[in-house]
Amino acid sequence: MFATIKTPTGREYEQPLGLFINGEWVAAKEGQTFEVINPTNEEVITSVQEATEPDVDAAVAAARAAFEGEWSDVTPTNRGKMMMKLAELMEENIELLTEVESLDNGKNLNQARFDIQSAAGCIRYYGGWADKIHGKVIDTQPGTFNFTKSEPIGVCGQIIPWNFPMLMWAWKIGPAIATGNTIVLKTAEQTPLSALVAATLINKAGFPKGVINIISGLGKTAGAAISSHMGIDKVAFTGSTATGRTIMKSAADSNLKKVTLELGGKSPNIIFNDADIDHAVDWANLGIFFNHGQTCCAGSRIYVQEGIYDEFVAKFKERITKNVVGDPFDNSTFQGPQVSQLQFDRIMSYIEHGKAEGATVECGGERHGDKGYFIKPTIFSNVTMDMKIMQEEIFGPVASIAKFKTVEEIAKIGNGTPYGLAAAVHTKDLNTALQLTDKLKAGTIWVNCYNMLHYALPFGGFKESGIGRELGKEALSNYLQVKTVAINMGGHNVFIGK
Ligand code: NAI
Ligand code: MG
Repeated sequence: MFATIKTPTGREYEQPLGLFINGEWVAAKEGQTFEVINPTNEEVITSVQEATEPDVDAAVAAARAAFEGEWSDVTPTNRGKMMMKLAELMEENIELLTEVESLDNGKNLNQARFDIQSAAGCIRYYGGWADKIHGKVIDTQPGTFNFTKSEPIGVCGQIIPWNFPMLMWAWKIGPAIATGNTIVLKTAEQTPLSALVAATLINKAGFPKGVINIISGLGKTAGAAISSHMGIDKVAFTGSTATGRTIMKSAADSNLKKVTLELGGKSPNIIFNDADIDHAVDWANLGIFFNHGQTCCAGSRIYVQEGIYDEFVAKFKERITKNVVGDPFDNSTFQGPQVSQLQFDRIMSYIEHGKAEGATVECGGERHGDKGYFIKPTIFSNVTMDMKIMQEEIFGPVASIAKFKTVEEIAKIGNGTPYGLAAAVHTKDLNTALQLTDKLKAGTIWVNCYNMLHYALPFGGFKESGIGRELGKEALSNYLQVKTVAINMGGHNVFIGK
């Protein structure tokens, strides 16, 4: 159930391969495994146990037993302590987790380390919330006493993607566990390894068995078994809008489990004539090329006001020549490979569409090297609103740039896709910034920056970018249900009055 793996730095470690169910490493009941690929060299790293429906059933049974049993006796303060211990253990293992993340996902070591640090921070932040969740007393009329309780929902299914494997793990586990739920979490089939390594810390942190179950598996089998499961009370998902729809349908067709979704985006990054152009170029670069463009809130639509359009495009092109593409284990690397062959093919096909639709390729537009899923940072200019590359989420290192004239025009264009995850405005004029923060329909709006996420700040989508908010205090409500208790103190019929 473990393999000895050597990372490119020469570190040898024991990689768990099993399913982490009821506090133990177990094999998949139907005996299936799937291969884990290193996107840098396309080689197989190892194979992990593949959960299918019977394994999901076992994980749900363990989560249910914990929820009804031992976990329900743990005080909120002790829940918080376990979470803080888990955060501490993650930090103690940060170098190992960083290397595993880079190996499996392809993101560079510095970024992976930042992800793990933020993941630990997120678990600690929610650990702090665990004993600060309570109901209210609500006065209605004499002779009554009414109060509410905020109770956990129960067994939660959580399905996460591959772009930020450890960060998504923490964003999901944090609020669910702080509020007293138990969970069955399925990682993405492209990147199961870091979550399994982190799962070895769960027992050490003191969680009772069955509270946190971590399984590897495919979407169509294990993922579908979670979203349709009659024993799961809530499902939380991050990934594509198409899969989000499928999950919501199967929740509706099964037990109407509660659903929260964090989905795709096509976020506008809007740069005005009066912006500090060099800063705007840096933020635009980070906005789209950070994490190889595999970011749900990526600033993939860059709109530049006409007075600085030509200068911006020239400076942006120049800036991205400094983005070193290559081995994620090389410290100078900014951009590693895309996560999989499938993602590589999808992105290349969008690039071909952009060319065919007549957008100008300012740079990139082709693969980088001949091994690994590397794509050159690509900039398309003169992109019109109707082009596929301006409407659809590409999820790769591809920026689409267009020109605009006025605040009114850009507000309309900015809102011109079915998505509404994020947006950014670069300007020195406070009025312009505030007009747009009002008009743009997006869950997060950055002013003079991009991708400034923090676990204390709520994050989520307007429109087809999702339902519910992750992070911050807001995320707690995704995992709580309110129970109202109304007491008649006087013995008379308070319903119709005296
Ligand atoms: P996906 O949404 O299909 O996969 C994400 C997760 O959902 C994985 O754990 C997968 O196993 C699971 N899943 C897949 N089908 C499922 C089903 N029928 N029932 C339950 N779970 C299921 O995304 P995929 O195919 O990896 O990427 C496709 C596109 O999705 C990307 O090109 C990108 O545009 C978008 N995406 C967005 C993400 C975000 O952070 N919003 C993250 C990953 C992908
Ligand atoms: Mg991989």
